Amino acid sequence: MILHRPVQIGSFVTSGNLFLAPVAGYSDAAYRSVCHDAGCDLAFTEMVSSEALARGNIKTHVLLGREKNEKDYAVQLFGSNPDTLAKAAAMVEERWQPAIIDLNCGCPVPKIIKTGAGSALMLEPQKIRAIVKAMTDVLTVPVTVKIRLGWDASSINYLDAARAAMDGGAKAISLHARTRTQGYSGNADKEAFFILAASVPLPIFASGDIFSPETALNLLKEDRNGSKLAGVMFARGAMGDPFIFSRTLMLLNNKKEEKAGMFDLIQLATKHLELSIAWHGEKVACVEFRKHACSYLKGQHEAAALRKMAVSCSSRKDYEKFFLAWKQSSAKTPG
Ligand SMILES: Cc1cc2nc3c(=O)[nH]c(=O)nc-3n(C[C@H](O)[C@H](O)[C@H](O)COP(=O)(O)O)c2cc1C
Repeated sequence: MILHRPVQIGSFVTSGNLFLAPVAGYSDAAYRSVCHDAGCDLAFTEMVSSEALARGNIKTHVLLGREKNEKDYAVQLFGSNPDTLAKAAAMVEERWQPAIIDLNCGCPVPKIIKTGAGSALMLEPQKIRAIVKAMTDVLTVPVTVKIRLGWDASSINYLDAARAAMDGGAKAISLHARTRTQGYSGNADKEAFFILAASVPLPIFASGDIFSPETALNLLKEDRNGSKLAGVMFARGAMGDPFIFSRTLMLLNNKKEEKAGMFDLIQLATKHLELSIAWHGEKVACVEFRKHACSYLKGQHEAAALRKMAVSCSSRKDYEKFFLAWKQSSAKTPG
């Protein structure tokens, strides 16, 4: 069975089925770009406010920019008003030409759900239908929807939400297999991916606790009487480890790592920083990059001391010293 396979999402066909999930504060052009270098097939922007776009707030535009190596991307919007979402989606399609536009029905943050957006939409599947319909009415590109299991354990309704999205015209569903109440804790309910795939005739993308190539492989190879998952999304699993895409690709294609040092994390992180500076300017990028630097250090030799250094970096010069120290300490790595 071919495990790394393209996905037909309405009129759009992806290059493969390994996706970078929308992750607020992470999935900008710089990060998506290095994930592409590492083998990601399609990346989602972080959620972008439809209200801000429709109001003409140009500060949000930086969230929508993309790098040269990112031929296709998916833009995720959040909001609760069908007309506003349609207006914002039409603007995004015209100006940024994404391959797909995704609707966020999963964000658990109080500030967002208070406005009826994000996971609050799980409480109103008919509203999901109305929003998707309003978006598809004005768009040429396909609309997809990212949902959760439901609001809480007593209101699991992902099948209703997915069917409502499909009725509105959605062409694929991503399921983060947790409830809103769970936030990001507890285990994702992987069984739910397959129940959804067997119940709703759209491509289904799995999100939740995909922290290793083996987990991705197991999800993609599972065949339940012909029902299969169309793709997997890496979120926390790709933080500080974009090479998770490369390793997954190799595992799916049954290939071995050919030479030591094939995945040069320091080189990738350096490129990530340079792209961040190009997008956000040195001052903002260098402060923002501290969290990425800390993620990159997960499991590295002398990580604690390096992390201490990373959290006080404020300029490109500081990071040059940091990368040098990282290189020196990784040269000392036992074995
Ligand atoms: C810091 C953070 C920010 C996130 N931002 C978004 C977002 O903007 N839109 C979205 O649909 N999901 C968002 N998510 C959810 C992820 O896309 C993903 O569904 C979730 O983390 C489960 O996957 P994981 O267990 O592999 O991390 C976010 C998750 C985290 C941890």
